Amino acid sequence: MDACHISLLCIVLTYVIHAIFATEVNVDFNRVLQVIDDKFVAVTLDSHLIQEGWQKFDFGSEKLVNLAHGLAPCYLRLGGTAADLLTFDPQKTAPNKPWSAQQYQEFLLKKHYKNFTMSATDWDLINKFSAAVGWELIFDLNVLIRDQGSWDPTNAMLLMNYTKSRGYKLAGFELGNEPNAFHHVFGRTVTAADLARDFVRLRQIMGSYSQSTLLVGPDVTKVDKKNVRLYFEEFLASGGGKVVDKATFHHYYVDGRTADVGDFIDASILDSLKTDLTDAITTAQAHAPGVPVWIGETASAYGGGAEGLSDAYVAGFMWLDKLGLSALYGVKGVFRQSFYKGNYALLDLDTLDPNPDYWLTLLYKRLVGRQVFHVTTTSSSDRLRIYAHCTSTNSSTFGYKPGSLTVYAMNIDSSNTTLSLPQFQDRTLHVYWLTPGGGGGLKSKFVNLNNKTLELVDKQLPSLTPSHSSASTLSIPAHSFGFLVIPDANILACQK
Ligand SMILES: *[C@@H]1O[C@H](CO)[C@@H](O)[C@H](O)[C@H]1NC(C)=O
Ligand SMILES: *[C@@H]1O[C@H](CO)[C@@H](O)[C@H](O)[C@H]1NC(C)=O
Ligand SMILES: *[C@@H]1O[C@H](CO)[C@@H](O)[C@H](O)[C@H]1NC(C)=O
Ligand SMILES: *[C@@H]1O[C@H](CO)[C@@H](O)[C@H](O)[C@H]1NC(C)=O
Ligand SMILES: *[C@@H]1O[C@H](CO)[C@@H](O)[C@H](O)[C@H]1NC(C)=O
Repeated sequence: MDACHISLLCIVLTYVIHAIFATEVNVDFNRVLQVIDDKFVAVTLDSHLIQEGWQKFDFGSEKLVNLAHGLAPCYLRLGGTAADLLTFDPQKTAPNKPWSAQQYQEFLLKKHYKNFTMSATDWDLINKFSAAVGWELIFDLNVLIRDQGSWDPTNAMLLMNYTKSRGYKLAGFELGNEPNAFHHVFGRTVTAADLARDFVRLRQIMGSYSQSTLLVGPDVTKVDKKNVRLYFEEFLASGGGKVVDKATFHHYYVDGRTADVGDFIDASILDSLKTDLTDAITTAQAHAPGVPVWIGETASAYGGGAEGLSDAYVAGFMWLDKLGLSALYGVKGVFRQSFYKGNYALLDLDTLDPNPDYWLTLLYKRLVGRQVFHVTTTSSSDRLRIYAHCTSTNSSTFGYKPGSLTVYAMNIDSSNTTLSLPQFQDRTLHVYWLTPGGGGGLKSKFVNLNNKTLELVDKQLPSLTPSHSSASTLSIPAHSFGFLVIPDANILACQK
């Protein structure tokens, strides 16, 4: 084999063989299957961060501000289990003291949930931060403040009044988090019908607060379980479907405590999302026709994510495939748990440096546009996963013109492969290929863009430069993913 490396004939032969056996990728750009939103990819912060005193999420950090601004325009959902423990106290001005590592360990061990207050300063900080970085805040209200079987909106009204008096613009409200699991988490129960009535009440209150603020819910857990699907269905059918602007469910592929690296590149695990998408969308279509579906909270693994995996290069397979499938199936928003905190965070807990999925999210937001197309290939393998959209044309970073096409692809196989795009045979491809950086392979905490490790330059985002390739043969390394842009594709459906 060694002799082969120096033989020109061998190199030529390898090239020819690759060209012959290249997987052909064809995009049906005559039909736009779905249209996603500019803010399709969104992020979350857990309300628990307020209880923990925000940890090292330093609102004044220049690095943090630049990283957040990079993802704009973007929804930020502030919610989660702790939302149903939170009371707003406008008289209180000091945020909670940041928890020590020991306090946090104790909390993790006992999972003893305690009520807590959000101070006026906490609320000021998150609202000012969102506005400064071009994000739009969606806040999850506490539905467990109840009186004789109904939600008591007094504290929510206090929050709305305060918000209005400060001139903050909220994008939306949620009410409760994973209400179908309240019995399991809090030993309390709110039926789907009761929750629907609570949402109707919230909608009325919001009417006098602001007409344009979204009402989002019910944020149930994974809908592939029958009882969860029934809760979602009953909520929508008993009046919830008439008042929500977006119908939400949550999704995690695997348990973070037991997940291994193989799970992240397992086609059957990636494909399992299809059932959830179909279940959620058909249920919403039947009981809340016209209401878009959002995955209101989602990551690779639940229980805080898988340590050393959900924050590593390999997490990108689950994230990119989830974005691809969700867009293709008709979901209109995907909220990544979380921007900060947990193994699945986009940023490092201590340094606020970007994890690999931050870079993936950034590239997705800047390269992937709204119209979604059907892709076919000459490979029958489910280990080559390919999606195609129009290119996003208003990113100031790249300035691609209307008519351009973006293809994003994942090779979850352990062999290298070769792609060709015969429809664009004579066109130049801009390649943004992501591979593990800095050693560590799939578990690497770094990611290379076109063989160069991505990192901030003096607290600023670096320029993201494509490499160029012909569309007739493109080598795709084993276990890698990336984006291809065809700037001169001239696709009619992408001209708008
Ligand atoms: C694109 O531009 C429009 C109009 O300025 C803006 O509303 C939208 O948020 C932008 N989208 C992205 C992804 O930057
Ligand atoms: C937490 O607050 C809710 C709503 O006010 C209340 O019903 C519940 O009893 C409180 N739980 C604890 C443990 O204090
Ligand atoms: C909120 O403001 C309205 C109008 O000013 C007022 O009637 C209401 O009592 C306030 N509610 C709370 C809970 O502060
Ligand atoms: C795959 O390609 C890489 C270069 O991109 C090479 O180093 C590696 O040996 C190849 N692997 C196989 C199994 O051919
Ligand atoms: C990365 O480097 C390899 C080896 O030098 C090269 O074959 C490949 O084309 C490079 N990939 C990109 C996307 O630039």
